[in-house]
Order: sequence, then C-alpha cells, then structure tokens
Amino acid sequence: MFMLSMSIMLLISLPVLADQSPNLGKPASSAIIEVWNQDIFIDGRGLPTGQGNVIDGEKLYQQYCLACHGVEGSGGSAEELAGAMHSLTDNPPDKIIGNYWPYATTLFDFVRRSMPIDQPGILNNNQLYAVTAYILYLNGLISRHKAVNAKTLSIIKMPNRLGFINVYRRSEKDD
Ligand code: HEC
Repeated sequence: MFMLSMSIMLLISLPVLADQSPNLGKPASSAIIEVWNQDIFIDGRGLPTGQGNVIDGEKLYQQYCLACHGVEGSGGSAEELAGAMHSLTDNPPDKIIGNYWPYATTLFDFVRRSMPIDQPGILNNNQLYAVTAYILYLNGLISRHKAVNAKTLSIIKMPNRLGFINVYRRSEKDD
C-alpha cells in the first residue's frame, strides 16, 4: 500500500517536476546533427567526394589550426601533430599522427567532427582533404605536390598500422 501511494504521488508530481527543469541546452538543429552523425570507417567507407592538396592545406592550416597546434604541427598548446622529438618506445613516448595513428581515414574523420576545436564543422570536404593532406605531408607520408581524395586516403599505409592489439578479436583469424 505504501509503495502504491508512493507511485501515485510520483505520477502526480511528474508534470510539476518537468516545470521545474533547469532548461539547460537547446535542441540540436538538423545542420548540427548532420555534422556529427557521419562515420568514416577505417577502410574509407563513408569518406565524402572531394579532394584537397598539400599546398592549399598549408594555407588552411595556418588560418584554422596553427594558433593551437603550432608551426608545422608542433610547439603549440594543443596536441602535436608532427615533428616528434622522441619515438614511441621512448619514455615518455612522443605520439604524433605519423608514428601513432594507424589509419589516415581516421584523421579525416577526427578533424571533420571536432576541429578546429572552437569551430567544428567550419571546413568543407575539399578543405578537410587539403588539411589532412598537409598533416600527412608534415609527417613525411606524402610528398608536397600531392592531393588526397577518398581513394588515395584509404590506401595510405600508416607506419603504426600494426602497432595495436585488437581487443575485440574473436579468433586468431580476426587479426
Ligand atoms: C582552439 C585550439 C585548436 C584549434 C584552432 C585546432 N585544434 Fe586540433 N586540437 C586541439 C586540442 C585541445 C586537441 C586535443 C583534444 C583532445 O585530446 O580531446 C586537439 C586535437 C587535434 C587532433 C588529434 C591529435 C592527437 O594526436 O590526439 C588533430 C588531428 C587535430 N587537433 C587537428 C586539428 C586541425 C587540422 C585543425 C585546424 C583545422 C585544428 N586541430 C585546430 C585544439 C585546437
């Protein structure tokens, strides 16, 4: 009986509680949802059409990224993207895109959904390809006169591709 009356009391008080909500946040617009709700898989599935080259990427980097990530990807307040002074096996290790990230496709995905950290979503797909190309160039993974697109980005073999253990592996064959 006590439980029943408690339940009834709760039901009666729910609309009152809703009125007392702190009214934090605001509904996400469809434009925001579109920016966030896009997945790119490691094999490149989900990469958009478009392309961008290192030279354009350098200019975009200077405009949108340098303030936090430093000249040529290091020496800034945010994570180093290039120019490691130590290797992965040093203590502490120096993790950058070129020596740590296993897939170039993830770099595109990460930048598209979260960078620049103060204005995510501001770059269009061609600009994202360009800035990705520039970061890959800074890491010595493509040459200065190259461009990247969905196809070329998917086949870049990152140096640390095999440096991770698959914790979701079900059998030896899944490696
Ligand atoms: C206002 C500062 C700021 C700007 C501007 C900015 N970033 Fe970042 N970036 C950060 C911070 C802070 C992190 C670390 C975030 C974290 O670890 O969650 C980060 C992380 C990253 C990473 C992941 C690095 C790693 O190894 O974990 C990449 C890649 C990256 N940024 C690329 C870019 C690119 C490309 C641009 C320009 C288009 C950019 N960022 C602009 C602050 C910034």
